[in-house]
Amino acid sequence: MTSTATRPTLFKAQHLLAISDLSPLDITAVLDLAQHYAESGKGLAKDGRVLAGQTQVNLFFENSTRTQSSFEIAGKRLGADVMNMAVATSSVSKGETLLDTAMTINAMHPDFLVVRHQSSGAVELLSQKVSCAVINAGDGQHEHPTQALLDALTIRRHYGRLEGLTVAICGDILHSRVARSNIHLLTKMGVRVRCVAPSTLLPSGIANFGVEVFRDMEKGLAGAEVVMMLRLQVERMSGAFVPSLREYYQFYGLTEAKLACAKPGALVMHPGPMNRGVEIDSGVADGVQSVIREQVEMGVAVRMAILDGLDRTRRAGSTS
Ligand code: CP
Repeated sequence: MTSTATRPTLFKAQHLLAISDLSPLDITAVLDLAQHYAESGKGLAKDGRVLAGQTQVNLFFENSTRTQSSFEIAGKRLGADVMNMAVATSSVSKGETLLDTAMTINAMHPDFLVVRHQSSGAVELLSQKVSCAVINAGDGQHEHPTQALLDALTIRRHYGRLEGLTVAICGDILHSRVARSNIHLLTKMGVRVRCVAPSTLLPSGIANFGVEVFRDMEKGLAGAEVVMMLRLQVERMSGAFVPSLREYYQFYGLTEAKLACAKPGALVMHPGPMNRGVEIDSGVADGVQSVIREQVEMGVAVRMAILDGLDRTRRAGSTS
């Protein structure tokens, strides 16, 4: 690993707000650095602690297991001081707004603010008000860029490439920021993307996203190299979008029988948290084709690459 002073710039962005802000070259650069971190594991050399002396604040207004903990581990592995703000016990409960909360933290001069919020666009708005690098850890139904990057890294590690693959994204596409970020990333990288869902769980204008749309799971999975399942996001639903969970599982739950329609050995993915027996059968989730645990592992590597990349951009800006 090169020293802190000589690391080449990874991308131009000051913040990571959305995959739509990244070019295919930016994405490849992040994945290459993340692959380096994945291979390094915990055995980073001393000069790998490129964020020593820097402060990272994780500000999560929505619950998280994977994203928050992997950002914390990523920051610590790079040598940063990491603070997880406990939103539930903060002055947010007294009515303090998102922007006032963010500007209060900004006054303490953090270097990175990792933000998850239930409103689409909230993280971008916040990024305009603070002086540190802001990373979107998921905003409403809009984007979850680091999830798409870790998904892409997982796929690339298995197939050695992204271009030319067929990926079927199945389930609650309407409410899913994971689906949106993955559609942007995978189509940019030359992947054939299929969206498989009942009409009630597809966003209007989905065909304009450069994807193929299927309402039949067996047809949507036929020949796919990757099957990416999504959770039913009941917390974002007002009213019933499926007749019953039992019927949903019958038609759209990933079982061994439906998986057999995909290419032999196709990867089974899920961003988590999973609802076993709703969108995915337990045996499939834990089966030999599942890479769900590897996705979690790659989450740390990708988040290290993003923190490192944003630090490089800032250092380049301060010397130009
Ligand atoms: N995939 C994902 O964002 O999981 P968490 O909600 O646990 O962070």
